[in-house]
Amino acid sequence: MLSYRHGFHAGNHADVLKHAVAVFLARYMQGKPGGVLLLDTHAGAGLYNLRDTMAAKTGEWEDGVARVLDFAASSTQAATGTDGVPDLLRDWLALVRAHNPGGSLSVYPGSAALFAALRRPQDRVALYELHPTDHAALTAQMRRERRVFVEKADGFAALDAMLPPPERRALVLIDPSYEVKTDYETVVTTLAGAWRKFPTGVYALWLPVIERARTDAVLAAIVAAGLREVFCLELCMVPDGAARGLTGSQIIVVNPPWTMPGIAARALPRIAAILGAQGPVAADWLVAE
Ligand SMILES: C[S@@+](CC[C@H](N)C(=O)[O-])C[C@H]1O[C@@H](n2cnc3c(N)ncnc32)[C@H](O)[C@@H]1O
Repeated sequence: MLSYRHGFHAGNHADVLKHAVAVFLARYMQGKPGGVLLLDTHAGAGLYNLRDTMAAKTGEWEDGVARVLDFAASSTQAATGTDGVPDLLRDWLALVRAHNPGGSLSVYPGSAALFAALRRPQDRVALYELHPTDHAALTAQMRRERRVFVEKADGFAALDAMLPPPERRALVLIDPSYEVKTDYETVVTTLAGAWRKFPTGVYALWLPVIERARTDAVLAAIVAAGLREVFCLELCMVPDGAARGLTGSQIIVVNPPWTMPGIAARALPRIAAILGAQGPVAADWLVAE
């Protein structure tokens, strides 16, 4: 029985990193006219109401997305019209603002809502979610969306069945809750299997930093599986061991755009400053070409 609900965590520091990277990757791939499959193995509920009891209980979004919006608003340079927002955040931030047309932040678009918003006519979106309540919410939201498919299915198995895609181009977000401890192994076997089947796909795997040894074991297993061109971004709010629970996160990108290393290296320290992060921050190759 799944109990994790992303509504408690939507818009937190980990979502800022994950969603900024996912949007950056999608937008880069959309620089070419050919259709792209945007696939989210663990889609969540789509849109998150930041005024509901789940978001209010933790208030995590106030230390994440809200800080980025406050920074962008306060740092706008009247003379130049620039806002000092790191390039890695720019397209994601525009989508967050588009979901909050009144200006005040009340709705947070999760990965599924972002993929649906990014879809061009030639693209497809495939979303998998197992939690009955979140699956129902997602299905209702996507009811009128064209070429957006929602399924109540295991995203790991669904990914294998979807590859290689007829478009020959795909961005895959693998974002489990790690509620099931075997997820730490399953993400590696799933990623490696997908990469072997479809080596040119772009894959983004989200990893929590809760116990450093567990995170490092996943990285070591990815290296041992023989994947190439694997880039890793990390953003931690506090040093390892300074707090219980999620202290930070990583996003592992297989086949990143050539622009990503430079943009990410410049952006990460600035994102850390905006969020007040005090822990490890990094943007580097795990496995180079
Ligand atoms: C971290 S949340 C997803 C958040 C979402 N990707 C976002 O960024 O907005 C993980 C989700 O995966 C769902 N889930 C857990 N195991 C799953 C599985 N095997 N297949 C599909 N969904 C699963 C959970 O119910 C939960 O909603």
